[in-house]
Amino acid sequence: MLVPVNQVSPGAILSSSIFAQGRILFRKGRKLTKNDLEIINQSGLRSIRIVRINGDSPRVGIIRDETRELAAKSISSIYQDYKNLNSRRFEEVKNLASTIVDEILASSDLKIQAHDLRTYDTYTYYHSVNVTVITTSIARLLGFDQTELLLLASGALMHDIGKMEIPQSILNKQTRLDADEIELVRCHPLIGSDLLCTRTNSSPLVWAIARQHHECLDGTGYPDHRSAEQIHLYAKIVVIADLWDALRSERPYKQGWPAKKVIDFLSSPSMQLKVEPEYVELLRSIVLPYPIESLVVLSNGMIGIVVEQNETHPTAPVVMIVRDEYGVECFDGEPQLINLVKESSLIITDSLD
Ligand SMILES: [Fe+2]
Repeated sequence: MLVPVNQVSPGAILSSSIFAQGRILFRKGRKLTKNDLEIINQSGLRSIRIVRINGDSPRVGIIRDETRELAAKSISSIYQDYKNLNSRRFEEVKNLASTIVDEILASSDLKIQAHDLRTYDTYTYYHSVNVTVITTSIARLLGFDQTELLLLASGALMHDIGKMEIPQSILNKQTRLDADEIELVRCHPLIGSDLLCTRTNSSPLVWAIARQHHECLDGTGYPDHRSAEQIHLYAKIVVIADLWDALRSERPYKQGWPAKKVIDFLSSPSMQLKVEPEYVELLRSIVLPYPIESLVVLSNGMIGIVVEQNETHPTAPVVMIVRDEYGVECFDGEPQLINLVKESSLIITDSLD
């Protein structure tokens, strides 16, 4: 439907791409942020086409968007100022962790919906927040109490702080890392745990999360090649959240994987030797196989974007068609929405990167 820009709220999904000065400003299917709406306003557009969704704009994650943005901004400031890390700054981390834990404990529906829109420059900060939300959600299902969740969330927020010592040119390198570069990257857990241990009054469990978040049950991880019983329970949960978010993310050197592909990979026989299968199953229980904005292929050959979930049928969301069964792109007119619960003859056969 066509809506005046000043009446569109953050979270609305574009049903037509927006063009400005001969190039695409925002693509069809994008979930608009507050910043996007300001850009659209500045472009001079009076109205845009958005998808009508029942009720409020869709919830996109376990915590509120505002909390995620605020947390990423604060983590960015703390990480970038890591040379001045101290106990006072760690208090800020604990406050952030407390906000996230409170929201997760208050959430009646632990479901990982969409991926946020991060840039390469902000990857580490949003990654840290996402890892914290997923880690804390899994731990809540394991029955952790509030004190344990707070400690775990504080460690998860800081797990990658050691990366700040690694040059961005290596972290974002588009070609294969050489042996020296790999060795350098593999130092970040040690650097991070040392920083936390020597500069802050944080718990040794927080240091352990930073140090052990790349260890594997079979001893093939780094930096200490610990085996299953030598890896702390907290780190074992963070490992899974870290892998989930890293594989889902688009990076300069790779596409992000669809949600279903990631969860199937983490459950594969080879990965079961490396990560705790019980926690992967808990992750599976909170992952939506086709999150909002994911591109899916239907059994009749149509391609669509997931625009709404059906709570009781996670494999049958509402899909907006972007390419019909003949391969023709649907750019004009009212968007064609298919509710896969009602259209039982159609199923999703694949999700696209
Ligand atoms: Fe890491």
